[in-house]
Amino acid sequence: MTDPDSQTEALDDVYLDTITIQGRDFQKFSIDRQISFEPVDEEEAERLELQHKVFNRVFDNRLIFPPIPRPQRVLDCGYGTASWAIEVAEQHPECEVIGLDIFPYMNPDDVPENLWLQVDDLNRRFTFPPNHFDLVHSRMLATGINLNRWATYIQDIKRVLKPGGWVQLVEIYFNVQSDNGSITEGHALRQWSTQLMRSLEVMKDVRVGTRLKNLLTAAGLTEVDARMIPLPLSAWSNERRMRDIGAMNRENIQKLLPALGLYPFTQLTQPQRMPPQQFAELITQAQQEADTPGLKAYFPLYVCIGRKPQ
Ligand SMILES: C[S@@+](CC[C@H](N)C(=O)[O-])C[C@H]1O[C@@H](n2cnc3c(N)ncnc32)[C@H](O)[C@@H]1O
Repeated sequence: MTDPDSQTEALDDVYLDTITIQGRDFQKFSIDRQISFEPVDEEEAERLELQHKVFNRVFDNRLIFPPIPRPQRVLDCGYGTASWAIEVAEQHPECEVIGLDIFPYMNPDDVPENLWLQVDDLNRRFTFPPNHFDLVHSRMLATGINLNRWATYIQDIKRVLKPGGWVQLVEIYFNVQSDNGSITEGHALRQWSTQLMRSLEVMKDVRVGTRLKNLLTAAGLTEVDARMIPLPLSAWSNERRMRDIGAMNRENIQKLLPALGLYPFTQLTQPQRMPPQQFAELITQAQQEADTPGLKAYFPLYVCIGRKPQ
């Protein structure tokens, strides 16, 4: 990985090459190396921005959860469209924010002066200096970090944190749940979840959200605090706040179901390749179920923070 000073180098075309599958663009570099199987097109960028707004609503507009009044240096792992990194850079103009992603979504000219964006694979060991960051943020990387990388990923994060610095992890567990137990094996949403997990589980830890606390504790981080927040797929809740979140999340989910499923379901052979027509039908059905209030469907959203000992 490179330091902030080298980020002005011309981006190698190898990171910008895409391949198109059923009308969606994927980064060729990522697909060839089995890094990430999510689209990288304008449609996905819009979805990530929408999802960021949902997270802001869920977290009451708090970008940074641990008590860090004046962060000087922050690392955002897998910045996507940089929505989080840009807002942190704007809220803390004195802070140097570094974003790292395998795909250069953002044109660096469009970002605040105190934000540096770099291209690299988080599955490789970090080369940032030790004791460098006040906060390392990692959100929605479960489908991008390799199965056996998580322990060293957390160790790397700990190493680059300053003593007393914090890590903040956020992951959705894509195993759909129902508040009243009404989602059965026959539902398309359940099939979507099962297919996503089976197709990726040989490469990625799709259940990592449930393990964040253990991972941080095992790495020797202290003051570890983990929460599970139900993230409703639509506005089914009787409770006002949850209903608002569900209403905001609805469009994100309608776009997320095809975006996350497309490559794994139709291109990976595990458990078996799904023909395009069958994929389209499953997604349409799952979208309708996500929108059915009686199913009370949600994804568990896991949030975890931990601190490097002083
Ligand atoms: C689902 S998006 C989340 C973006 C952002 N963290 C957010 O929450 O809005 C995942 C991002 O991580 C990037 N990514 C996935 N695996 C990666 C890896 N191994 N190394 C670097 N970036 C990765 C993807 O390119 C994508 O931009």
